[in-house]
Amino acid sequence: MKKIIIINGPNLNLLGKREPGIYGAQSFEDFYAELKTKYEAFELSYFQSNIEGELIDKIQEVGFSYDGIILNAAAYTHTSVGIGDAIKAIETPVIEVHISNTYAREEFRHQSFISPNAKGVILGFGLQSYELALQSFL
Ligand code: DQA
Repeated sequence: MKKIIIINGPNLNLLGKREPGIYGAQSFEDFYAELKTKYEAFELSYFQSNIEGELIDKIQEVGFSYDGIILNAAAYTHTSVGIGDAIKAIETPVIEVHISNTYAREEFRHQSFISPNAKGVILGFGLQSYELALQSFL
């Protein structure tokens, strides 16, 4: 069974409540529960943190044994050399995801320290971005 982890960065714990016009009305916990039932073929896990170093620790912890990381680094996408370097340092492939189409938003969201080191990028499909990323491991 393939081991896949979803890693969510800052403020994504507020999904469902946070700017629902951009990020939707569903909480990540509800969406994740649905995903787990639908994709029983994967050993799926989930980690969220608002703290950059905790995200780096988790990437390092899983990055030599898991089959895939689905990463929404949220705002750290646009600022974190450290998360970019962590992805470079590990062996597990990383799929970068975003709920919104970051290229249709403010210019500071057009920069990503994740993309150059990711296997692929999926963005703009709402929470479905995570599902499409998961399907890439089928
Ligand atoms: C986001 C896009 C980022 O620019 C933003 O800071 C987020 C969420 C997304 O999933 O659309 O927090 O990563």
